[in-house]
Amino acid sequence: MVLRMGMIGGGSCLSIGQTHRLAAQATGEIELVAGVFSSDPERSRIAGAAYGVDPARAYADLPTMLAAERARSDGVDFVSIVTPNHLHYPATSAALEAGFAVMSDKPMTARLEEARQLRSTIRQSGRPYALSYTYSAYPAVREARARIAAGRLGDIRKIVVEYAQGWLANPSAGEQAAWRIDPARAGVGGCIADIGVHAFHLAEFVSGLRVSRIMADLGAVVPGRALDDDCAVLLRFENGARGAVLASQIEIGQGNGLRLRCDGEKASLVWQLDDPHCLTIHRIDGSTETVRLESSGAVVPAPFEVQHADGYMDAFAAIYRDFTAVLRGEEAPLLPGADDGLRGMAFIETAVEASRANAGWVDLVV
Ligand SMILES: NC(=O)c1ccc[n+]([C@@H]2O[C@H](COP(=O)([O-])OP(=O)(O)OC[C@H]3O[C@@H](n4cnc5c(N)ncnc54)[C@H](O)[C@@H]3O)[C@@H](O)[C@H]2O)c1
Repeated sequence: MVLRMGMIGGGSCLSIGQTHRLAAQATGEIELVAGVFSSDPERSRIAGAAYGVDPARAYADLPTMLAAERARSDGVDFVSIVTPNHLHYPATSAALEAGFAVMSDKPMTARLEEARQLRSTIRQSGRPYALSYTYSAYPAVREARARIAAGRLGDIRKIVVEYAQGWLANPSAGEQAAWRIDPARAGVGGCIADIGVHAFHLAEFVSGLRVSRIMADLGAVVPGRALDDDCAVLLRFENGARGAVLASQIEIGQGNGLRLRCDGEKASLVWQLDDPHCLTIHRIDGSTETVRLESSGAVVPAPFEVQHADGYMDAFAAIYRDFTAVLRGEEAPLLPGADDGLRGMAFIETAVEASRANAGWVDLVV
């Protein structure tokens, strides 16, 4: 049975919506049939045509789409939300209330309070909801999680995730940058919400541990910025392990430098996006094991973003495969959902406030 997908956003050629469409298609079970691809009706219409969507189903706005799709016997089964952050909360709430399942891109919302509200709405709706924390779906990352869960590293002592980009060192980096540095559209966090939250999710996902306290130092380094573009956050995990999220978008020359290191009492492991199918394990006896986990099955070329090319589409497709399983009523325990989204928003907002107040160590309260 083909699952019918609607999309909110994704109307510009560099937008992540393009990746969502290809990843969904790569499952062999999903077809994009409707959408509001832009806030501008004409751009929505043009993008719909480029996606091969029936012109009658390239809508001008979300209420019109939800009403029309509800009324159709072949209406969409779920909606993917790939707009700038400020629309995640209203669009997800409206789609759930209209009875549709939702796949949302991260962060869950623009503000923590919205995420709290949204988690209640998701629970009350009973509809499937997932978040595309893409990096957690690389086979090597899932293998890292499995090994740690099986005790192969022993007790975890330290987790450091670094995510370095350079494109926002440029004060005017284009349309995709414009909303990311605007609090009205990005929300309470800049870099911390754009990429720091990926790093935070990876730290908790791979270790299976929850962060209980943080100490944050966030900077708006490029003059005139209202939101952070460079972040250092120390972490304390519930078991006492130490860690850090280092996320920056002003490191000139860095494309998409994501690197995770997890140290246990018996061994450590390293995973990095530069070689994403490889997991390196260093043991306390001095031996090193290198594990290669190739693609998860969906071989689709990435449409853009050279630095993302290797394995990125496969990981995205793995998220969509898990989501189709949930839509069929099956379990997909590794698929990120509302609890992960809410923890991510707590991380973002607590870090922003604590850094602003120079508060030192603070509890991470969800
Ligand atoms: N999971 C990942 O790895 C990943 C990667 C990149 C971006 N993202 C997330 O995806 C989201 C979009 O980021 P992007 O880089 O694609 O941004 P973008 O600016 O490239 O694209 C956003 C799109 O949303 C459309 N849009 C804006 N307002 C709209 C409205 N009212 N109705 C319908 N469409 C509207 C725009 O026309 C544009 O096509 C962000 O929340 C971002 O954090 C996630």
